[in-house]
Amino acid sequence: MRWLLSLGCLMLAAGVSAEGLPVKSQLVRDSCGACHQVDAQGRMSRISYVRKPPEEWELTVKRMVRIHGVSLTPDAARQIVQYLSDNHGLTASELAPIAYVLEREETSEEIPSEHMKAACAGCHSYGKIAGQRRTREEWLKLKDFLMGMYPAMIYQHRQVDWPKLADENLAWLADHFPLETPEWKKEKDATAPGEGQWVVVGSQPGKGDYTGLLSFRTLPDGGRQSETALAFASGQKETVRGKGRWFGAYAWRGNALRGEKDKTREVFHLSADQNTLRGRWFPLEHPELGAREVRYRVEGAPRVLAVLPGAVRRGSSHVTIRIAGILMTPPAQHADLHLGDGVSVEKIVEAAPDHIEAVISVDPAAKPGARDVKTGAISGAGQFIVYENADYLRVTPDHAMARLGGIHYQKEFAQFEAHAWSNGADGLPGTADDLDLGAVQASWSMAEAYASFGEKDVSFVGSVNQNGLFTPAEEGPNPARLRSTNNAGDVWVEASYTPPGAQQPLKARAYVLVTVPLYVQFPIH
Ligand code: HEC
Ligand code: HEC
Repeated sequence: MRWLLSLGCLMLAAGVSAEGLPVKSQLVRDSCGACHQVDAQGRMSRISYVRKPPEEWELTVKRMVRIHGVSLTPDAARQIVQYLSDNHGLTASELAPIAYVLEREETSEEIPSEHMKAACAGCHSYGKIAGQRRTREEWLKLKDFLMGMYPAMIYQHRQVDWPKLADENLAWLADHFPLETPEWKKEKDATAPGEGQWVVVGSQPGKGDYTGLLSFRTLPDGGRQSETALAFASGQKETVRGKGRWFGAYAWRGNALRGEKDKTREVFHLSADQNTLRGRWFPLEHPELGAREVRYRVEGAPRVLAVLPGAVRRGSSHVTIRIAGILMTPPAQHADLHLGDGVSVEKIVEAAPDHIEAVISVDPAAKPGARDVKTGAISGAGQFIVYENADYLRVTPDHAMARLGGIHYQKEFAQFEAHAWSNGADGLPGTADDLDLGAVQASWSMAEAYASFGEKDVSFVGSVNQNGLFTPAEEGPNPARLRSTNNAGDVWVEASYTPPGAQQPLKARAYVLVTVPLYVQFPIH
């Protein structure tokens, strides 16, 4: 105890705080040391007192090059971003709440206060801020940094007292997002997953649900190669080949070629127990498209993860279903697979520890509702639905924004999807017991959303195809339009679907606002 006390006095006397991450990379010390001093503990000014995700490290390093004249080879820049992300990054529990920003999810975010909204979340997302961990001093420095970088901001924010709000917000952030957090202490020493297999479950709007098996191989440069065999609920198969890297133990960034032709980016984040990898993949230039996907490490207790299709109408015969799971005991014969009373398994087509493909028929009198899937000793609770009727249709998202483009600017698309729903046991639509029967192949059209007289948006804003993909028109003035305005406007995107056995189609719609391109592209989100 006396030893501890005297150590405390010593540190105080030397004016050294206990916080700060020592920089062990010689490359970082050599490349950054001219301006960022190294102290006796190996800590570098500024660099040792902030933590952020890989995208943010990349932006900071780019700024050092762009504004402060640092010269780095692309390879050195990559290694520096890797080192800082590995050692001054965020852990699983810290990444999870802000993953939507990095994963480029189209969503509206929750901002903790009106003050934060007014002073900080106008130019970039709040998630960009909440994705940083800094010492109090480093948080407070942001006020001068922002005023120095963007002096016009004070005028742009003249409706509020920006400097005062910045002080308040930065003090709040210093309290809530310090450099060292309990999550950090608990999770920081984990190492990234190596080689191994993961069972993939995803849903690609416009194309449907899918499952698959992914294998990671370690490359000599520390990266990983991946190969995934996917099967869609529609029966379509696809191979995905990619390469990527772990930044720290929890952030996966990769590039993958889907079906031999589509180049996509992968942004995934690992759970704290390191067994679940959640995220999104999307076309390189179009983060608004793509899919949300979950990857489950092939490890631990056997379990059922998903059934495709997840719902079958009673009275259907010879339907092929696919069950995805972890370390399942492949059923030796059809009698070993059970989907509850009234569902007969006719044939096992394929059986492996990660997937079972079977042909089933559902008795016209089978009881509607969610059921358990049982294979061998394992049981997937409520993962398969038998339904009587598709009662209504729902389009997701129920509203979206698209941006004109194609000449000088990139178009921003909007992808819609129609799901059939059952009213559930209570027979009423819109209640908690309603059952999502999955995506259906609807027919798509557009209708005017009246905002002003004679606008005829339907003829100008763009078009929707039969996969629910809305493609906006070109940007710029259009002489064919009233007053030669551009093609901006708003319309309803409508889905119509006639379920098997029904007389009338089910209909649903979503709102799409078609607006101008992003004329100024900030490199930030
Ligand atoms: C030529 C001087 C110079 C060099 C070399 C330099 N920096 Fe900086 N750095 C600055 C200045 C000036 C600031 C403060 C203004 C700013 O943030 O842009 C800064 C700020 C920073 C910050 C704090 C930003 C924040 O708010 O999070 C980090 C982190 C940083 N630098 C990292 C680096 C890294 C990593 C390198 C090496 C690749 C590097 N710097 C090299 C001049 C330099
Ligand atoms: C006028 C627009 C604007 C406003 C308002 C604004 N920011 Fe930013 N902020 C930016 C831009 C642009 C960058 C990226 C700078 C770069 O890396 O080139 C940035 C970067 C940041 C960073 C990352 C710095 C780094 O190097 O990692 C943080 C954290 C941040 N802002 C927090 C805030 C907070 C907190 C507020 C409110 C007090 C705020 N911002 C208000 C435009 C703004």
